[in-house]
Amino acid sequence: MGLPSSLKPCVFLVFLFLLNVSTINSEPSNEEPVLFGGNFQALYVIGDSLIDSGNNNNLITKVKSNFAPYGSDFEGGKPTGRFSNGKTIADYIAIYYGLPLAPAFKGLTEEQKNNISTGINYASASCGIFPDTGRRFGECLSLSVQVDLFNQTIDQNLKKIFKTESELTKHLAESLFMTAIGINDYVFYYNTTMDPSAFADKLLHDFLIQIKRLYNLGARNFFMNNIKPLGCYPNIIAKTVPRGSCDDSLNHAIEIFNVQLRESLSHMRHKLSNTSFLYSDYFNFMLELRGPSNNQVSSNLLNTTSPCCPKVYNGGLTATCLPLSKACKEPDMFIFFDPRHPTQIANFMYAIQCFQEREVCHVVID
Ligand SMILES: *[C@@H]1O[C@H](CO)[C@@H](O)[C@H](O)[C@H]1NC(C)=O
Ligand SMILES: *[C@@H]1O[C@H](CO)[C@@H](O)[C@H](O)[C@H]1NC(C)=O
Ligand SMILES: *[C@@H]1O[C@H](CO)[C@@H](O)[C@H](O)[C@H]1NC(C)=O
Ligand SMILES: *[C@@H]1O[C@H](CO)[C@@H](O)[C@H](O)[C@H]1NC(C)=O
Ligand SMILES: *[C@@H]1O[C@H](CO)[C@@H](O)[C@H](O)[C@H]1NC(C)=O
Repeated sequence: MGLPSSLKPCVFLVFLFLLNVSTINSEPSNEEPVLFGGNFQALYVIGDSLIDSGNNNNLITKVKSNFAPYGSDFEGGKPTGRFSNGKTIADYIAIYYGLPLAPAFKGLTEEQKNNISTGINYASASCGIFPDTGRRFGECLSLSVQVDLFNQTIDQNLKKIFKTESELTKHLAESLFMTAIGINDYVFYYNTTMDPSAFADKLLHDFLIQIKRLYNLGARNFFMNNIKPLGCYPNIIAKTVPRGSCDDSLNHAIEIFNVQLRESLSHMRHKLSNTSFLYSDYFNFMLELRGPSNNQVSSNLLNTTSPCCPKVYNGGLTATCLPLSKACKEPDMFIFFDPRHPTQIANFMYAIQCFQEREVCHVVID
């Protein structure tokens, strides 16, 4: 377990240095305890485009990424439906825990589903916590539908693999459930005329209902990412004044949700017996990677303000990388691959910060 050194981009040490990590000689050692227990049987992934591994490929929607230049640095250099040039944070989490990358539910045959006990990915780009979020662009799997599909996996597939009730219960209790969802609810439903606390309350309420459903189905270990600082993403900062500055009001609204989410986990831990929660502060990770809010000139060697693709981005309506878009030559020098999604190097740096530096990810103990 741990992040195998063969998977590290060669620029790894340079970036650690740029991240102001005081001790560069902290290569992952075998003695270092694995974060959050370790021996998980499976990784089940619930979320949106940050971690979709190809579900939207099989849905009728405009929100897809199954074409070049997406996937240019993925194994074999092929597009998979991941919204990045390479691996997502869900992929790095699987690698860290020694599990295969969780395949997209919508891309699996019934035969394959009956033969997978190491986890499945239900995440779907453009969708969110509210049932209609993202629907303007076509089909996607909302949070409650993702939980329905997981229930279906249990009923139709896992019950065939785990013949007894106790084997199945053990499998579920020893599996990891990763979530990263909610930003699209802000994109589609939040605006500045609303009370951000009331909005966050409602969103969190609906989120926790689905977490309780997962619990009732047998889930016990949750790896929860908070919501990203969208106010500093290229599609937003292209329109801010002064150009390039973060939309602090949007970030602040998201932060209110994140604080409430973190607090609710302490509460849930006591309410739902035998559960463990890991809180991953993805928001602050991305914020620190970018540097100061009014970042006009990059604070390090990474380009933190423009996407790699499209190479020339003016904040126009098509805030995605399209089949004919020109991409940058060196995605490893950018933190954003397209105007809304991180590059593989940013995702890899997340994994280092989460698992090795232990700055982003914290097991909830209070
Ligand atoms: C089941 O999965 C295993 C491991 O991934 C693989 O080696 C095997 O061929 C699969 N069997 C079927 C029938 O798909
Ligand atoms: C904000 O959202 C509310 C509720 O959906 C809507 O009535 C209002 O028109 C929106 N305001 C703006 C400025 O978009
Ligand atoms: C899961 O599916 C079963 C069978 O369809 C249903 O009875 C049960 O209520 C579902 N559970 C949840 C938590 O949705
Ligand atoms: C909690 O764990 C204990 C020990 O494994 C077990 O006996 C008990 O049934 C579990 N309770 C729930 C609600 O899962
Ligand atoms: C980031 O990349 C864009 C597009 O390639 C370029 O125009 C811009 O100057 C770069 N910014 C920095 C700070 O290097």
